[in-house]
Amino acid sequence: MHNKIAVVTGAARGLGRAIAEAFAREGAAVAVTDLNREAAAAVAESLTGMGAAGARAWSLDVRDAAGVEAVFTEIDTALGTPDLLVNNAGVYPDNPLIDMAEAAWDAVIDTNLKGPLLCGQSFVRRRIAAGGGGSIVNVASTAAFSARAGAGHYCASKAGLVMLTKCMAMEFGPHRIRVNAVAPGLIEVEGERVSADYKRNFLPMIPYGRIGQPEDVARAVTFLASDQAEFITGAVLTVDGGFLTGRPLMRSASV
Ligand SMILES: NC(=O)c1ccc[n+]([C@@H]2O[C@H](COP(=O)([O-])OP(=O)(O)OC[C@H]3O[C@@H](n4cnc5c(N)ncnc54)[C@H](O)[C@@H]3O)[C@@H](O)[C@H]2O)c1
Repeated sequence: MHNKIAVVTGAARGLGRAIAEAFAREGAAVAVTDLNREAAAAVAESLTGMGAAGARAWSLDVRDAAGVEAVFTEIDTALGTPDLLVNNAGVYPDNPLIDMAEAAWDAVIDTNLKGPLLCGQSFVRRRIAAGGGGSIVNVASTAAFSARAGAGHYCASKAGLVMLTKCMAMEFGPHRIRVNAVAPGLIEVEGERVSADYKRNFLPMIPYGRIGQPEDVARAVTFLASDQAEFITGAVLTVDGGFLTGRPLMRSASV
């Protein structure tokens, strides 16, 4: 990743932070972008000590087209034209469909689906102007393939992101820009966004027997972003300890 410049959205904490750290350890320069500028700045500061060729923080709301374009222009000036983009920023509130407010639906779709399009556009226009090449990794979810009660907007946004990944791969391939997605299962992140009960009940559905860690996802993202993955585009890599493989119930067992 030496000589590479990576932009990571939603990089102030959780998976985004781990992805930014993984790029830093590989020697890339990293643009740490997030709604929360203060937390992003703290992450950027820590990356330099990990080996990043450079690290800067930007306040970025992926839902805001003009803001996205302005930040990419600033990144160009400060770090250079980005080679890699990770569309990680995402939200996952619980809102049952029966009485989901329009604003709740819009907030999730705008962040998780429109955001990757807007960032992708600003990224790809610059890659094409620079002569092509580059790589996008979209952070989808196993929720793209397996419905979760209370998360209709989230599941739809991630299913949409999987198809957007394929459409981007199709349109950007002629410019040698690869576009792939990771689909993480349940991953342990700081904070209380997922209850202990939910985690306990989820665990038996993971054949590998543990909940994922942000670094599990970060390794898959850096692989897909790297030249090691040349000729891989339009792919979705699940990082879920086998959760999506099927039901862990034997018909003959009494349950
Ligand atoms: N944690 C999991 O179990 C899990 C599983 C599958 C997929 N994912 C996906 O991984 C991504 C990161 O999830 P996480 O668990 O690390 O979440 P998180 O809440 O810990 O971190 C998300 C970050 O995104 C930022 N953000 C939110 N809205 C934004 C916006 N409009 N513009 C810019 N930044 C914004 C937040 O400020 C936060 O720093 C999301 O896309 C999520 O859907 C997470």
